[in-house]
Amino acid sequence: MIKELTRSQELLNRRNNVVANGVGVFNTATVKEAKGAIIIDADGNELIDFAGGIGVVNAGHCPEPVVEAIREQAGKYLHTSFNVVTYEPYIELCEELAEILPHGDKTKVMLVSTGAEAVENAIKIARQATKKPAILCFTGAYHGRTMLAMTLTSKVSYKYDCGPFAPEVYRLPFPNFYRYQGERDLDKFVDDELKRLHESALNLVDVKSVAAVIIEPIQGEGGFNPVPKRYLEGLRAFCDEHGIMLIMDEVQSGFCRTGHWASWQHYGVQPDISTYAKSMGSGLPIAAVVGKADVMDAAASGSIGGTYIGSPICCVAALATIKYMKDVNLNQRAVEVGNIIATRLNNLKNECPEIGDVRGIGAMIAMEFVQNGDPRQPNTEICGKIVKGCAENGLIVLSAGTYKNVIRILSPLVITNEQLNTGLSILENEIKKALNKI
Ligand SMILES: Cc1ncc(COP(=O)(O)O)c(C=O)c1O
Repeated sequence: MIKELTRSQELLNRRNNVVANGVGVFNTATVKEAKGAIIIDADGNELIDFAGGIGVVNAGHCPEPVVEAIREQAGKYLHTSFNVVTYEPYIELCEELAEILPHGDKTKVMLVSTGAEAVENAIKIARQATKKPAILCFTGAYHGRTMLAMTLTSKVSYKYDCGPFAPEVYRLPFPNFYRYQGERDLDKFVDDELKRLHESALNLVDVKSVAAVIIEPIQGEGGFNPVPKRYLEGLRAFCDEHGIMLIMDEVQSGFCRTGHWASWQHYGVQPDISTYAKSMGSGLPIAAVVGKADVMDAAASGSIGGTYIGSPICCVAALATIKYMKDVNLNQRAVEVGNIIATRLNNLKNECPEIGDVRGIGAMIAMEFVQNGDPRQPNTEICGKIVKGCAENGLIVLSAGTYKNVIRILSPLVITNEQLNTGLSILENEIKKALNKI
C-alpha cells in the first residue's frame, strides 16, 4: 500500500525540487497561517513557535494593529523611493527611533531593508566619519550574508568557497567567559581580554587605521553569549582613546528581546552607531542604522541609500509595532518570559550535567550542551536530535553556536504562560530523550 504524503511533506518535496539547496532548512515545519505564538502548519496542526522567524516576531505573529496599518497604507501608496519623493512614515519612524535609542546629544537615522544592509551601511558611515579603512570584529559574530557582512561573520560554514572576502577586516576572540574562563574568575578573565584588545594595536592592525569595532553586546547566532559589562566599558574607552567608532549590532537582540529597546541599554555603554532589523517590523523587511548625528552626517550624499530603503509599508508596520510594544509593555513582558524560561532551564540543568550553561539577558535565553562538564568540549550531535524531536511534537525551536551545541529560545514575547510552559515541557522531554534519560 502506498502511504499518502501529508501536505507538509508534499510542500517540502516541492521545495527540494525547485529551491536551491544552499537556502538552509533549519526546521521542517510548514505554515498555513500564524497568530501570536502559534503556527498552523499546512496540514492544520498547531505548533508552538520558539523560533519567532529567527527573532523577528517579538510582538507575535500578525499583531492586529500592525496588520491594520499595513492594510491602510497599501490603499494609499506602495512606493515612491524615499530618495525621490519624501513621505511621512519614514520621517516619523526615524523620529521614533531617535527618541527610544538616543546616541549622544543628537541622534540621526537611516532606514534600509535587512540586517546585513544595516551593517554594511554602518561600516560605510564609520569609514567616512573617520577616513580610515580597518574594522575589528569578533569570533562567534554573525552580521549577515552580503559580502562585507559575511566577511564580518565568523563561522566558516556560512561562507565556504564564497571568498575572496572584503579586505581590512580583523578579528579578535569574543570575550566568551563560559567557554574560555579556564581557572580565572570574571575579573581576571576581563583583564586578560582587555589586555589582548590593547595588544591588538601591536600585533593585529595599526590602531591608527581602525575605523570601527563592531560587536553584538549579546551574540545571537554565536549562542547568546553576553559580553561582560567591564569588557564593553573597556572597549568604549579603547575606541575613545583611538578615535574609533563603536558599532553595536542589535539586529537579533533589539526591540524588547532583552527587556530593553537595545541590549546596550542594560550596560550603560553607548555606541556611536547601532544597527536594528528583525522584530522592529514584525516580519516586514525594515532595518535601521542609528547613530550620533555628526557621525551619521559624515556620509556623503548618495553614498548610503537604495531603491527600497524604508518602504512606506514597512515603515508603518514598524511604527505600529513600536506603538504596540509600548502599549502592552513588551519590555516588561520579556523579563517575565525570561524568568520563566531561565527557572525551568536551570532546574533541568541541575538534572542534566550535559547542559553546561544556561545564560542570556531578558528573554534572550539559551542553553549550551557540553561533554564531561567541559566548556571546551561541545556536544555537537545533541541539538540536531532535539530540534527534530521538538518539530515532531509540536514545537519549533532553533539551535545556535559555532558548534551548533546551543538551543536558543526566541519565542514571541506575547506568548501566554500556558503556551510557554507547554513548549518548555516538550523541549525538556526531547532533551531527556536525546540524552537517553527517558
Ligand atoms: C546580529 C545580527 N546581525 C545581522 C544579521 C543579518 O540580518 P539579515 O538576515 O536581516 O540580513 C543577523 C541575522 O540573524 C543578526 O543576528
